[in-house]
Amino acid sequence: MTVTTGVFVHPNGLCESEQVGEGTRVWAFAHVMRGAVVGRDCNVCDHAFVEDGAVLGDRVTVKNATLVFSGVICEDEVFLGPNVLFTNDMRPRAAIRKGPDELLGTVVRRGASLGAGAVVVCGIEIGRYAFAAAGAVLTRDVPAHAFMAGNPARRKGWVCECGNRLPDSLRCTECGLGFAELPDGAGLRRLD
Ligand SMILES: CC(C)(COP(=O)(O)OP(=O)(O)OC[C@H]1O[C@@H](n2cnc3c(N)ncnc32)[C@H](O)[C@@H]1OP(=O)(O)O)[C@@H](O)C(=O)NCCC(=O)NCCS
Ligand SMILES: [Zn+2]
Repeated sequence: MTVTTGVFVHPNGLCESEQVGEGTRVWAFAHVMRGAVVGRDCNVCDHAFVEDGAVLGDRVTVKNATLVFSGVICEDEVFLGPNVLFTNDMRPRAAIRKGPDELLGTVVRRGASLGAGAVVVCGIEIGRYAFAAAGAVLTRDVPAHAFMAGNPARRKGWVCECGNRLPDSLRCTECGLGFAELPDGAGLRRLD
């Protein structure tokens, strides 16, 4: 079944959004709500949920059972592992209904990866090419290229665009890219 030209939706997938880019695939039991924006060539795997008001860029991977709620923006080439959990209400109460203005947004910058089961507490920005280990609980802004692990997640090092850990020299031993630290703890920037 195809909702927009060039979008593949598995016969048991549910894609209600008309804002889905060409080449994107929505697999069985995944649900993309009307009002969600999904870019080109994304992969939304079984049991994932993309809510009204969520925005995914191009070439984003959303692995199985991952929940992307309203107010979450993932830029191009973000990787969300299985069971990644976003939030958008810092202090939820069942009896207090909140409108979109009262929810806290989250931004995941280009190329960042969140490992299996990562939990993202709302209102933070995850920097470009940051990498959260499986099970990390991200509670604060994450610098670009930071390797984060644990609960609450702490920075344990730096990662390259290719996903490998960077040595102290900040020159990747795998792909050769070099990096330098940005001011104000903002993380790394690419040199070459
Ligand atoms: C982060 C990861 C890549 C391991 O990287 P690594 O460079 O081999 O890690 P190391 O073994 O060198 O560990 C570095 C440190 O981080 C810690 N660490 C690694 N993974 C961790 C995790 N998931 N949670 C908490 N701490 C972790 C290690 O204990 C170590 O800590 P120490 O320096 O205090 O001893 C891997 O653990 C991981 O989580 N990958 C994500 C897999 C995933 O979710 N894929 C999704 C698609 S299936
Ligand atoms: Zn590299």
